[in-house]
Amino acid sequence: MAKSKKNDNICTFCGEAIPDNSLLIHGQDGAICENCADAVEDILRDWNMNRSTRKTDKQVKRVEKLLKPHEIKAHLDQYVIGQDEAKRVISVAVYNHYKRLSHPPVLPDDVEIEKSNIILVGETGTGKTLMARAIAKMLDVPFCIADATVFTEAGYVGEDVESILTRLLQAADYNVQKAEKGIVFIDEIDKVARKGADNPSITRDVSGEGVQQSLLKLLEGSMVNVPPQGGRKHPEQRFLEVNTQNILFIASGAFNSIDKIVAERMNTNVIGYNKKNRQLDKNNMMQYLTTQDLKQFGLIPELCGRFPVITYMNKLDHEALKRILLEPKNALIKQYERLFEIDGIQLKFTDETLDYIVEKAMELNLGARGLRSIIEKIMNSAMFEFPGSNKKKVVIDLDYAKDQFEHSIYSFLD
Ligand SMILES: Nc1ncnc2c1ncn2[C@@H]1O[C@H](COP(=O)(O)OP(=O)(O)OP(=O)(O)O)[C@@H](O)[C@H]1O
Ligand SMILES: [Mg+2]
Repeated sequence: MAKSKKNDNICTFCGEAIPDNSLLIHGQDGAICENCADAVEDILRDWNMNRSTRKTDKQVKRVEKLLKPHEIKAHLDQYVIGQDEAKRVISVAVYNHYKRLSHPPVLPDDVEIEKSNIILVGETGTGKTLMARAIAKMLDVPFCIADATVFTEAGYVGEDVESILTRLLQAADYNVQKAEKGIVFIDEIDKVARKGADNPSITRDVSGEGVQQSLLKLLEGSMVNVPPQGGRKHPEQRFLEVNTQNILFIASGAFNSIDKIVAERMNTNVIGYNKKNRQLDKNNMMQYLTTQDLKQFGLIPELCGRFPVITYMNKLDHEALKRILLEPKNALIKQYERLFEIDGIQLKFTDETLDYIVEKAMELNLGARGLRSIIEKIMNSAMFEFPGSNKKKVVIDLDYAKDQFEHSIYSFLD
């Protein structure tokens, strides 16, 4: 194929003469202009879509091979400690997403399984983003993580929400049909909550409600024009059309202090509860979280309505934090042991030291996020001094850990 030559500017398909500055692609015996190429692309897309709705034996077999929910959860267990409730809900949603894709309605009367977008709520450092990454490692559909904080309403400085789909297209290697079956994880969704009526000085809520409104368009299953941003396969086109009908959206956010909103609502409803003889578990109000609380927090009702599944991440307790230090595939302690091992040094932490690290992390109230900075403070001198020394074994006991940690804090205060 080559570009048009001067006296050879007729499109074989429509018979039009194509001006020199327009695209005309030549084949062996003919040429096709940009308009006709677009039309062919549409025909191909329709044809492929119809083909994918015909059930074949191969497809049915593929469904049988799909990971079942408990297998998906087992995979997540390797990375995410605790959070059983959220892992179960997500495993079911991911499984149903696959089932939905592999069993589209064929006849007009067939039941269509609707998708169940999920919203995942949990305090900072409880593993929300980690969960997203763990899902990504397992899937064979395109997956991308988008951070809601970078989006602004169209026309303002920042990214348009459509760029979420650009990332999904990139994950699908610009194959639109593949991208249309993907999963999008929108992190930090709480950061685009509507700023409350208690702040009347905000006249335009550029990064809040406007962004939520734009997100609606993606979520409701429409054709969205996506800028491929330098997409290799479509250098001539400014937009690719992506149908979001089958894309599964998982949104997550810390929703700081939403437990207070839940508690307030539950307390006003508490009489109803007593009638049913149910005790309110005051230590874990998040289990009662509903769409109503998300609305109260500042998500617009239309957006909440498009996330029918709500789940939450528990606050991490002492035992969970200790397990996080030791158990995941790339647990922090394993990482430090490995760092020393490379220098031929065997590293050990005593059990008391691990408890001390966990206690300090709980004081920080940053979930598992605090663990790393604490170990780093404890280990900094050792990592500086021991490589290249003749030490073959290092034990980090409680006295040493306390000494290093407190010293690092005092030197910080100096
Ligand atoms: N349940 C968990 N199991 C294993 N590791 C965890 C868990 N929760 C958090 N971590 C670890 O803590 C760190 C922070 O976790 P992550 O980024 O997932 O938090 P987050 O919930 O997304 O917090 P934020 O709301 O601040 O974004 C990561 O290094 C992660 O590996
Ligand atoms: Mg996060």
